[in-house]
Amino acid sequence: MTAAAVEPTLYGGPIAEDRKVKRVSPLDLFAAKQRGDRWPMLTAYDYSTASLLDSAGIPVLLVGDSAANVVYGYDTTLPVTVDELIPLVRGVARGARRALVVADLPFGSYQASPAQALDTASRFLKESGAHAVKLEGGRRVVPQVETLVDAGVPVMAHLGLTPQSVHAMGGYKVQGRGGDGERLVADAKALEAAGVFSIVLEVVPAELAARVTTATSVPTIGIGAGPDCDAQVLVWQDMAAFRAPGGRAPKFVKAYASLGEGLREAAAAFAEEVRSGAYPAAEHSYS
Ligand code: KIV
Repeated sequence: MTAAAVEPTLYGGPIAEDRKVKRVSPLDLFAAKQRGDRWPMLTAYDYSTASLLDSAGIPVLLVGDSAANVVYGYDTTLPVTVDELIPLVRGVARGARRALVVADLPFGSYQASPAQALDTASRFLKESGAHAVKLEGGRRVVPQVETLVDAGVPVMAHLGLTPQSVHAMGGYKVQGRGGDGERLVADAKALEAAGVFSIVLEVVPAELAARVTTATSVPTIGIGAGPDCDAQVLVWQDMAAFRAPGGRAPKFVKAYASLGEGLREAAAAFAEEVRSGAYPAAEHSYS
């Protein structure tokens, strides 16, 4: 294989420290769909993790409102606020040299009106350095999407299991079965017409996600939505099995590492060496 053949398209592979990099843009994601190239997206919530994921070649980093769960320890995503998310996005935007950084608009920060959505998105772009925003919902958020897109804000949509509507959905269940599938396809087409640059499809039947993927020209990003989406996203802690003791991962998660266990073992080893006096040794001390 020649160097050109392994040169990045969208999934760039590891980024050398000294390499100049161009920021991934929504246009790159459209082009990838046209080429039939799939790409990965991960969540990130801090500078160090964002730097690592970016240097591993992940082209899109989402500061999800899942921060409510994995950073703040809430049961649902509902309580997290714009003020709690902005500092996290700031860290991620500083850590990501190449990745497009998408900030999730939390519950209650955009539903009231297009003007509210623009105020919130403006805060994320101005105060945190996000490059794009994500919001949940179908046709009911089209006015918000149109206003943001008119203002030059790239918008990622989110359909299927939309955790901000957990109480209305009666829990975290597969969405889009039966007649609901038609509604979801119509929502996706309306969002595409409104100008979104991508659509997250969460926990929907694989056949439905495949239908949306062929029915729209914008990339679909699956999470529990089968193999036919243009991209796949996971919460990074799920992807690396880094979770609080007793936490369980949904069926669609595949863990590519055991960082939780690794951290627990490291902490136990540190504690043991502090107790025994083995740490710090001479090489960790100053004369
Ligand atoms: O908040 C989040 O992390 C998300 C992803 C799971 C898509 O919305």
